[in-house]
Amino acid sequence: MKIAVLPGDGIGPEIVAQAIKVLGALAKDGLKLEIEQAPVGGAAYDVAGDPLPAATLKLAREADAILFGAVGGWQYDQLPRAKRPEQAILGLRKELGLFANLRPAKVFPQLVEASSLRPEVVSGMDILILRELTGDIYFGQPRGMRKLENGEREGFDTMRYSESEIRRIAHAGFRAAMKRTKRLCSVDKCNVLETSQLWREVVTEVALEYAGVELSHMYVDNAAMQLLRDPKQFDVIVTGNMFGDILSDEASMLTGSIGMLPSASLDANNKGLYEPIHGSAPDIAGKDVANPLATILSAAMMLRYSFNQDQAANRIEAAVAKVLERGLRTADIHRPGAEKVGTVKMGDAVVAAL
Ligand code: IPM
Ligand code: MG
Repeated sequence: MKIAVLPGDGIGPEIVAQAIKVLGALAKDGLKLEIEQAPVGGAAYDVAGDPLPAATLKLAREADAILFGAVGGWQYDQLPRAKRPEQAILGLRKELGLFANLRPAKVFPQLVEASSLRPEVVSGMDILILRELTGDIYFGQPRGMRKLENGEREGFDTMRYSESEIRRIAHAGFRAAMKRTKRLCSVDKCNVLETSQLWREVVTEVALEYAGVELSHMYVDNAAMQLLRDPKQFDVIVTGNMFGDILSDEASMLTGSIGMLPSASLDANNKGLYEPIHGSAPDIAGKDVANPLATILSAAMMLRYSFNQDQAANRIEAAVAKVLERGLRTADIHRPGAEKVGTVKMGDAVVAAL
């Protein structure tokens, strides 16, 4: 099992180091892993003048799976867009065809109190957000900035989805729903956008192939509200790139912290890139306070989806639950009375709990 490890910027290297430690502990028990690291994002720009150097992309292509930290930092914000760290993750998703982004938002019973919503609203919540990842306004052409005739500037982006792009993510959504409680909610903005109208038509067509799944549709503004009103009404949500970006951050807070949420980005053959859904958090980088659990849980997803190692994945998830049970908390999920630990200690505790 060849894993390309791309730590990136900010807290990326510290959280990824903890996930590698956990994988290393499993390797001692017989899991055969080959790990190679490469710079990505701002870190790659610093050494190679390019956020996604050819060598990094090659390593990612040749690996069986990719473990990714986070990219971005204030020192890169003024660079031309093509050189910005975010282009690395967008480029990897596009180049590797990682169109299906699984973002599970599950409340650990131990963290119910950490949610910003009342315990009875979130307790038992278990949602899977399936976000399309290689299309939509993120990649649509034309885009740019131009000068209008009256001299003022205009910025523009294009939201677009082809039928085949919608069809394949819809299939992924129905397949995911089949494995869960067989309910799929497709989120769009069909009352305003042509893109969404086609989205709804195609998802409805695909539904005919999955008689056992109950399909519903919801406008994205309503979905944002319903997630706060009654999140447990949802099981699998399938949506486009932009809406999924926003709704998955929102859903993460229901679970207590964005520092807890892993993700998998898969291609048609289940080759995947695994990353926490949070960013590089430059304000807390290098301070040993970041929560490594989202990255550790991303490594578990990697074992499950790319390597069919369900048992090893379960072990990691159980170890995380155990550590939380013991009351260990990083700053983001800390509450009075709990034991506050740093990034490294949290990683060590997960290894010990394995
Ligand atoms: C995410 C992030 C990225 C995105 C950024 C870093 C480009 O917010 O993975 O959700 O917008 O997709
Ligand atoms: Mg995001």
